[in-house]
Amino acid sequence: MAPTTEISQRVEWNGRQIPVYPMQTIDFSAVLSQEPAELEKLLQCCQKEGFFYLDLNNVDGRRFLDDHQELLKTMHRFFEAPLKVKNEYGLISPHLGYEPVGSRNGVLEDTRDGYEMIKVSRDEIQRESPHIPRNIKNSADLKVLENAISGSNIMSKAILAALSTAFGLTGSARFENLHRNHRPSTSTLAMMHYIPSNPAKDGNFGHQKHTDISSLTVLFTEQWGLQIRPPGTKEFGFVEPKKGHAIINVGDSLRFASGHTFQSCIHRVVPYDYSEHRYSVAYFLRAEDDTMFQDSEGRYVTSREWHDEKFLAFLASPMDQAKFPSSLLLGGMQEDETDVYGLPKAQSVAADTARNPAVEITAVEVGA
Ligand SMILES: [Fe+2]
Repeated sequence: MAPTTEISQRVEWNGRQIPVYPMQTIDFSAVLSQEPAELEKLLQCCQKEGFFYLDLNNVDGRRFLDDHQELLKTMHRFFEAPLKVKNEYGLISPHLGYEPVGSRNGVLEDTRDGYEMIKVSRDEIQRESPHIPRNIKNSADLKVLENAISGSNIMSKAILAALSTAFGLTGSARFENLHRNHRPSTSTLAMMHYIPSNPAKDGNFGHQKHTDISSLTVLFTEQWGLQIRPPGTKEFGFVEPKKGHAIINVGDSLRFASGHTFQSCIHRVVPYDYSEHRYSVAYFLRAEDDTMFQDSEGRYVTSREWHDEKFLAFLASPMDQAKFPSSLLLGGMQEDETDVYGLPKAQSVAADTARNPAVEITAVEVGA
């Protein structure tokens, strides 16, 4: 398998030639039928790179592409509502609710993020009367949300089962046994809207570099903006959105569960086109709340503790965030210090004043 660090394409962005990193493609139908060659390829992707395209252009996958198109319509309707309506829903818990623009740090020093986000958890959508924003709560909307969540759950569970087999796990040691559907977890569907922003003058800009808390992330995006930093590379590069494909990445939890042999993908989001509104959807498959992991510092933490600790780090001011170990934000992944951002520092925006005071957590659930 060709290493991803072989850069065959670059695009001009922000006055520089930026790599476009190639990614392997895994066929969803072949995963479903557990074809040995595809499983071995999948395992190599997770061990060497931590990300891949999932080809859904087949009879088994196309329903998920259709579901995503329906979800985009629902998302647009939610995000077009006045801020007052969206804040009325608020952030109920770290994996359920609304976060306005500026709730987290931005890509650049002294900026806040440039996106708003609504999260609907898998546990919540299964409740008899789920807590959903009132402007997307009719029965058709609920069905759209349920389809998106269950579809991503099916895709990620199929990948997880394939990885267990390829990794040689049997019985209760298989990864699926840490992700049982009937057990509580923070698995959630995150729908994001990035506002137009210019790094030279705006104080809200992109999504800071991080690794995901999750075991696996299923991402749908039709627009440029996602950048990754594959292991061993010296700079961030773009991922090309591919029609009919989801982008899958390994997160911290599966890295921990694999004995730190899988790569948790370092990534961030920048505005590729400064004038563009960008929409993306990520389903975070996370382990059962009480699953015990050993993190990169050697600490034993539950899945829920890791989630809550990292979520608070995401929300912290730059000054407070600097106090957290880098192994928290990057899941223990190492990066070369020669990273080149290639971005001008935003002018006259102090981090504290850019922080959006509107974000409130009405009930943070802490502990296992
Ligand atoms: Fe992420």
